[in-house]
Amino acid sequence: MRLIHFLKKREVSMTTVPQSRVNIRAARPEDGEACGRICFDAFSAINAAHGFPCDFPAPEMTIEILSMLFAHPEMFYCLVAEMDGRIVGSNVLDERSVIRGVGPITVDTTAQNSGVGRKLMDAAIARAWEKGAAGVRLVQAAFHSRSMSLYTTLGFDIREPLACVQGRTRERQVAGCEVRRAGTADLAACNELSRRVHGFDRGGDLAHAIESGTARVVERGGRVTGYASQLAFFGHATAETNVDMQALIASAESFDGPGILVPARNSGLLRWCLGNGLQIVQPMTLMSMGLYTDPAGAWLPSVMF
Ligand SMILES: CC(C)(COP(=O)(O)OP(=O)(O)OC[C@H]1O[C@@H](n2cnc3c(N)ncnc32)[C@H](O)[C@@H]1OP(=O)(O)O)[C@@H](O)C(=O)NCCC(=O)NCCS
Repeated sequence: MRLIHFLKKREVSMTTVPQSRVNIRAARPEDGEACGRICFDAFSAINAAHGFPCDFPAPEMTIEILSMLFAHPEMFYCLVAEMDGRIVGSNVLDERSVIRGVGPITVDTTAQNSGVGRKLMDAAIARAWEKGAAGVRLVQAAFHSRSMSLYTTLGFDIREPLACVQGRTRERQVAGCEVRRAGTADLAACNELSRRVHGFDRGGDLAHAIESGTARVVERGGRVTGYASQLAFFGHATAETNVDMQALIASAESFDGPGILVPARNSGLLRWCLGNGLQIVQPMTLMSMGLYTDPAGAWLPSVMF
């Protein structure tokens, strides 16, 4: 009896809504309010269900982030899903680099598991290939079986387990390394470093971070050996060696958002973080489609990729 009840419940929850009821369209700035609320509720629900804190402190923050992304179509391709005319989700494709980043994607908790997420992903991936992207990447919460299944069946490969870490390091600097705020004059050296480590640069993203005042570079032996667009959940960093990356991490008073994303197979760097008092908040996964080469250096992805 209980088994029949379970199977019936599962059947209902796995039912796909007729696709004609779901419409995907370009997001408009005024959609930020509805989509921001859906985003906050969706992350709160999935994280709470697994005993993790929400990635965002309040709906005001997700509303602000999505409204900002929706207001910049020259950098971000933003999509909204409607079901019977009601907004039920959104997705964002960061188009600032030859590698596109997907996210945040969220679907209203009352409309999940009915095909809306897949439609939002299909549209973002189609756009990436149509515009000549070399690859598409994303970061997902490793405990979230649904998103991992969805992305895997869409063709994304798991590339790297990540540890989201938070705190303030006990060591505040690293011998031989000088960390300072990045300026526009550093852009060329940082882009060249990124091309050496990753095979592509993230100059658009970095230029924006320099303008906002969040970017830093580390110098060793009189030259730039690493940079961070921001030491935060939404920032990325690239360096020649772990020592350079440690200097960048040690220079931060705190990490905005849930934390920075440390590639967990870089045991030396992760052990250094933990030995310095940082704590793991949650496990995450970097996934990719298209071009991917193992980075030849130390790196921290942002939650976008
Ligand atoms: C992740 C999210 C966007 C997916 O949207 P969705 O509309 O629920 O997803 P869909 O129904 O389109 O697709 C889910 C797929 O996973 C499958 N699935 C779900 N749980 C599964 C499991 N445990 N094992 C295997 N497959 C599973 C479903 O059957 C479906 O596959 P199908 O398209 O082949 O039928 C949505 O659940 C959400 O907003 N979650 C909370 C926020 C979040 O985690 N966002 C992603 C951040 S990376």
